[in-house]
Amino acid sequence: MGGNEEWATDAAVLVVIVSKTTFDHNGEPAPVHSFDTGAAWQNLALEGARRGLAVHGMAGFDYERAAEVLDVPEEYEVEAMAAIGERAPPESLPEELRDREEPSDRKPLEEIVHRGGFE
Ligand SMILES: Cc1cc2nc3c(=O)[nH]c(=O)nc-3n(C[C@H](O)[C@H](O)[C@H](O)COP(=O)(O)O)c2cc1C
Repeated sequence: MGGNEEWATDAAVLVVIVSKTTFDHNGEPAPVHSFDTGAAWQNLALEGARRGLAVHGMAGFDYERAAEVLDVPEEYEVEAMAAIGERAPPESLPEELRDREEPSDRKPLEEIVHRGGFE
């Protein structure tokens, strides 16, 4: 979705990242299932980058269809998708995507870290 098909189709692997919403030991809801899975995804992305691969997270896909095709059980939640593979030359991308092949800026800390509550 959202133009992802244009560049993601040729990725070596498309990974659907799924979290388990309940604890294994007692079946109770696991409030940090998304947080935990996000941390695991970050490790995957860092290790991929260390190996020189492109690891690109995506939210632009059909979540319901992914769950259906992969028979994801009810107590699991589809969180995101990632395309992993060797980086293609920028010339292989449509022109509007080529500009995005530069490292992006990061927000200054004062914009994202607050002392006390939100204003
Ligand atoms: C959970 C998640 C979902 C994302 N969804 C998309 C997406 O659907 N399509 C897309 O082109 N980029 C998406 N992005 C952004 C890219 O993966 C990547 O973060 C972005 O190109 C900027 O990379 P950089 O901040 O490391 O430079 C998503 C990122 C994350 C973490």
